[in-house]
Amino acid sequence: MLSDKNAPIGVFDSGVGGLTVAREIMRNLPNEKIVYFGDTARVPYGSKSRDTVVRYSRQIVRFLQTQEVKAIVIACNTASALALDTIEKEIDIPIIGVVKPGASMAIEATRNNRIGVIATQSTIKSNLYQTLIGQSNPEITVYGKACPLFVPLVEEGWTKDPVTVEVAKRYLKELMEKDIDTLIMGCTHYPLLRHLLQEVIGDHVTLVNPAYETAQALKRMLKEMDLETEEILSEGCPEHRFFASDGVDNFSAYANTILPCEVSSTGLVAIESY
Ligand code: DGL
Repeated sequence: MLSDKNAPIGVFDSGVGGLTVAREIMRNLPNEKIVYFGDTARVPYGSKSRDTVVRYSRQIVRFLQTQEVKAIVIACNTASALALDTIEKEIDIPIIGVVKPGASMAIEATRNNRIGVIATQSTIKSNLYQTLIGQSNPEITVYGKACPLFVPLVEEGWTKDPVTVEVAKRYLKELMEKDIDTLIMGCTHYPLLRHLLQEVIGDHVTLVNPAYETAQALKRMLKEMDLETEEILSEGCPEHRFFASDGVDNFSAYANTILPCEVSSTGLVAIESY
């Protein structure tokens, strides 16, 4: 299919977490327009089954296609782990997730071949980080740990709170005992805990933020496919659009604490109808 180079990029997540990925796209591809969808009515995805996450992701992809996007980024680790391989066979525009870029970055970062990955229960259960890293370098051992309390703590704004430090100590203890030297923050919310996690785990461990590497992977993909926008801005932000399935005012307020570009309003989408 021939896509319009100047069309936006569709980015979606189960809610606000994927804004950390949108932020990296805005920083690294400042001329590209984004259409972001956050599934705030049905979050969290991290405890749901593959069938449910595939069904939700399909509906969102259909919605994004009505916005005539030229490519899609699944800015959610859980949806990337559970739905990307199914959805990519069903659509004719390029689509990438956050897991593969995060895994590649961790492989490059490790020196002792011991990598930890923290993520939602469903992402850890999918074993995808482990599988991808193992396929690329069988000498690397990957230790996974589900950290379900981190998402609500971040959404509560407790990114520096002593309670979160205690929770992090509990979750990271077994990974520290495995002597990992690299830790993948395999959930969209965790980069917002980056400083706290680094303090708990120590400076000798490299933290990998898949959001950053996903923006780089997107940049490479658009270049290779000759899909980079021709609209070059001298200043300001391109016209991004934001949509959510519930709580649109809260969504805009939260987005404005994270993004370098202003979110003046968020459209409400009845996502079940797609
Ligand atoms: N966005 C999800 C992820 O990256 C975290 C929130 C959720 O469980 O839906 O896995």
